Amino acid sequence: MRDIEIINTIKEMQRYSDLARRDGKTVAFVPTMGFLHEGHLSLMKKGRELADILVVSIFVNPAQFGPNEDLASYPKNIERDLELLIQEGVDIAFIPDGKEIYPKGFQTYAELKNLPNHLCGLSRPVFFRGVATVVAKLFNIVKPHFAVFGQKDFQQLLIIKQMVKDLNLDIEIIGAPIVREKDGLAMSSRNSYLSPEQRIHALFLYKALKKAGEILKNGVRDSSKIIEEATALIKSCSDTSIDYIKICDPETLEDIKMIEKPALMAIAVKVGATRLIDNMILNP
Ligand code: PAJ
Repeated sequence: MRDIEIINTIKEMQRYSDLARRDGKTVAFVPTMGFLHEGHLSLMKKGRELADILVVSIFVNPAQFGPNEDLASYPKNIERDLELLIQEGVDIAFIPDGKEIYPKGFQTYAELKNLPNHLCGLSRPVFFRGVATVVAKLFNIVKPHFAVFGQKDFQQLLIIKQMVKDLNLDIEIIGAPIVREKDGLAMSSRNSYLSPEQRIHALFLYKALKKAGEILKNGVRDSSKIIEEATALIKSCSDTSIDYIKICDPETLEDIKMIEKPALMAIAVKVGATRLIDNMILNP
């Protein structure tokens, strides 16, 4: 097992990467907000395969939380996270301080024009600006060759890929598949908020996606019909409110009416106070 090094300051992290690069080593990076689960660990396994050095950041980024969201209560367990990082053979845990990431006077943000105007961007207006900004900053601090993101946050992955392209960042972005619990629930740090009864209702996001796949297989290509069925299924549980159920182009996120080529079906639902997302590619 490798020794892990914990780095807390920006200068030290940049210096570490400069030295690694000078020695001809490649660096892979997995940004996280901690409270790690198997989904996060799958990204680390991918990163481990890709490069000589694996850096994981843990930072609950205030810029991506709206005023009525769960910044203050976001789950934390740094001791357990570090144990998991050691198990995964991570070289560096980068755990910066909020005051250093966003010092007084901070005023520069990364904002995309089109991709945030869909799906989660509509109900979380500051979210993707906060994500793109912190990821751009982390890229300049960690200086990786590769960075791994989960398809669980499909729109986030698209936005990061677009930002890297638009700003000519010299980093390869790798997408990794959604890791699910045995029964199909997409793993998420926020699943820890769910009561046992809500946990049962949370599974309906996956059930709706699976049902959509079956309906499509039976020859229904009309998105509105598929969305109608998925909506009815989710509405059958009490304690849920649908933010969106969409079938859209997996590159532009524009709505698709008839499924003639692979389409992204994306769902966001509040179960109690907990907002959950899931998605699946529908293949006609
Ligand atoms: P966080 O929610 O901690 O997720 C970190 C990474 O893990 C993201 O790339 C996310 O897509 C991936 N991930 C989460 N659950 C997953 C699952 N079930 N299967 C596969 N991958 C999964 O996403 C963020 O943090 C933040 O927005 C961040 C990118 C760190 C910027 O602050």
